[in-house]
Amino acid sequence: MSSERWRAVDDYTEGVLIEADPALAGALAASAAAGLADIAVTPSQGLLLNLLARLARATGILEIGSLGGYSSIWLARALPPEGRLLALELDPECARVTAESLAGAGFGDRAEVREGPALESLARLQREGAGPFQMVFIDADKRRTPDYFQAALPLMSDGGVIVADNVVRDGSLVDEDADDPTAAALRRFLELAAAEPRVSATTIQTVGRKGYDGFTVALVEPL
Ligand SMILES: C[S@@+](CC[C@H](N)C(=O)[O-])C[C@H]1O[C@@H](n2cnc3c(N)ncnc32)[C@H](O)[C@@H]1O
Repeated sequence: MSSERWRAVDDYTEGVLIEADPALAGALAASAAAGLADIAVTPSQGLLLNLLARLARATGILEIGSLGGYSSIWLARALPPEGRLLALELDPECARVTAESLAGAGFGDRAEVREGPALESLARLQREGAGPFQMVFIDADKRRTPDYFQAALPLMSDGGVIVADNVVRDGSLVDEDADDPTAAALRRFLELAAAEPRVSATTIQTVGRKGYDGFTVALVEPL
């Protein structure tokens, strides 16, 4: 089966299920205008994030790696009026576009973008006693996915949801002999999740407009 077919199915299902949206289109246009990479989640994936956050009744959402704010808007839209989104982003230009995209979508007063290396921001959040968060979306530098998982977990409520993107990466996840530190890091992430009594996790393989990949969803269990 070809990638054209995966793309056609994404086009069809998104055409049926997801309405055109000026704020989301604006985030993508602003990202392109700023020369950011075309690596945001797809509309179907963005809506899945939104649905998971609503299922978790999230009032606090943490995003690690926001690019130009496309997924941030999907996540922020899951919040109730008193809810808050905190996006951690390394790159100053990405942080600027994210903040503008969120403001353009009407979340200027309920969303914050913290610029800098996410591991440092997470350590600071822990010192500040920030949270709790009921949803965390891990979508930054994939080699640090295990570190982000470990650093985010203490900030989370029981019943919260963790989603990590790009875990399968064309199946390279299982290429144990290949010299691929990212695949090794993602295996370590899954091993950590399996060993962590506080979470139950599963990984789902996906195909679509962005090719063959997959994501991990973890539920934070009350102990
Ligand atoms: C795949 S993109 C995020 C896409 C975004 N979640 C979306 O779907 O619209 C990854 C982002 O992580 C950021 N990033 C990379 N390393 C980081 C780090 N150490 N700390 C924080 N952000 C980082 C990149 O600058 C980039 O914007």
